Amino acid sequence: MAGPAETGKTFAALWRLHCLCRDNAKVQAAIVRKTLADIAPSVLQTYLQKILTLDSAVGVTAYGGNKPEWFDYPNGSRIWLGGMDKPGKVLSSERDIIYVNQAEQLTLEDWETLTTRATGRAGNLRDANGEPLSLILGDCNPGPPKHWIKQRAAQGALTLLESRHEDNPRLFDANGVITPDGIRTMAILDALTGVRKSRLRFGKWVQAEGVIYEEFDAAVHEIDEMPRGWEAWRKFRVIDFGLVHPFVCQWWAVDYDGRMYRYRLLYMTGRTVVTHAGDIKRYSATDDYIETTVCDHDAEDRMTLAENGIENVAANKAVLQGIGKVQDRLKKQLDGRPRIFFLKNALAEIDQSLLDAKKPLDDVTEFESYIWANKQTKEEPVKQDDHGMDATRYAVMYLDDSAGHGGGWGENPLGDVR
Ligand SMILES: Nc1ncnc2c1ncn2[C@@H]1O[C@H](COP(=O)(O)OP(=O)(O)OP(=O)(O)O)[C@@H](O)[C@H]1O
Ligand SMILES: [Mg+2]
Repeated sequence: MAGPAETGKTFAALWRLHCLCRDNAKVQAAIVRKTLADIAPSVLQTYLQKILTLDSAVGVTAYGGNKPEWFDYPNGSRIWLGGMDKPGKVLSSERDIIYVNQAEQLTLEDWETLTTRATGRAGNLRDANGEPLSLILGDCNPGPPKHWIKQRAAQGALTLLESRHEDNPRLFDANGVITPDGIRTMAILDALTGVRKSRLRFGKWVQAEGVIYEEFDAAVHEIDEMPRGWEAWRKFRVIDFGLVHPFVCQWWAVDYDGRMYRYRLLYMTGRTVVTHAGDIKRYSATDDYIETTVCDHDAEDRMTLAENGIENVAANKAVLQGIGKVQDRLKKQLDGRPRIFFLKNALAEIDQSLLDAKKPLDDVTEFESYIWANKQTKEEPVKQDDHGMDATRYAVMYLDDSAGHGGGWGENPLGDVR
């Protein structure tokens, strides 16, 4: 089921999953997402707070403590939780039903793996007519127009259902009149911009036009694990200040060939620089040496960082030059590998207010909506959801410059802007 944000897709899918587990004995079910770590703050909350609360008489038991691994029903049905990154037991044997939350994040290969796990052999499910049933269902927000979900739907290999805001009784009542919750939710979605708005507000499968980093490809540039031995590499941090907008701190490690890896990320609104300074030092406790912290130019914020134990240097903010250098690094080399990578699951903490506002939660999410203000002239980017993009640019500029100068930007934390 595809549709814009908040139409009730996840609720509907979980309700179906729950009813099938409740009404059939010994059902082997699974809730799957691209990454295991994303289950707890999202789909698991809806399952616990909405579905199980609505039908609490069933008596479902969670196993695995704070981060449940599976749920048991009194009739022997079980729902496993898993990520495609860490499938573990979840996909170790046949399942009667698999529900994929945010299916657009999966690759076609992931989806095909799932189809080998729900072939009907588990055999514990019957449909309303008593016929054996196995099912893989997913919910998704729209992605680019050539996404595999659209292509499979066009080939008839999957049934694509569309959901709309009017389908969600929390947003629109039975007469189609918008509710107070609906007014609030639609205001949030109306405040989005660009390709995110087209997808999450209007449910369109579209791609942004004039994308600056066309070379970015999550399958290439996002990695599951850091390469072996990375702890000993050169490391530095980059900061882009923000309060209403996210404050971004990226931690970068550089291998012996000069390839750079963003291995940790802070992306957070609403906190002071002093608070961030404390968090940054705490997160850095496991890094043996950070050579410097490259900062956006706000003099007071830089001073505050320095006073709180984070010496820093000013970023080289030449926009077009920086963009060109990031583009160069994103390009694959002869060996098929680019020169810049982003570690998945590197986010230190999810910003709940960004989540509620449907804004990007991290730097990599910005790539697909980071566009030129004018597609022809390509002189400047649209300054929207660009905080991780700015930090990335400063990081590349710092590294490329320091390679030539033997040492990065000046030692004075409030040094001249170059
Ligand atoms: N049929 C329903 N009855 C009661 N509440 C519902 C129903 N459908 C959805 N809701 C509520 O509406 C809100 C949004 O629903 P849900 O999370 O399922 O949307 P979604 O389409 O999955 O959104 P997203 O695209 O952002 O993941 C939730 O709080 C959910 O509990
Ligand atoms: Mg959902």
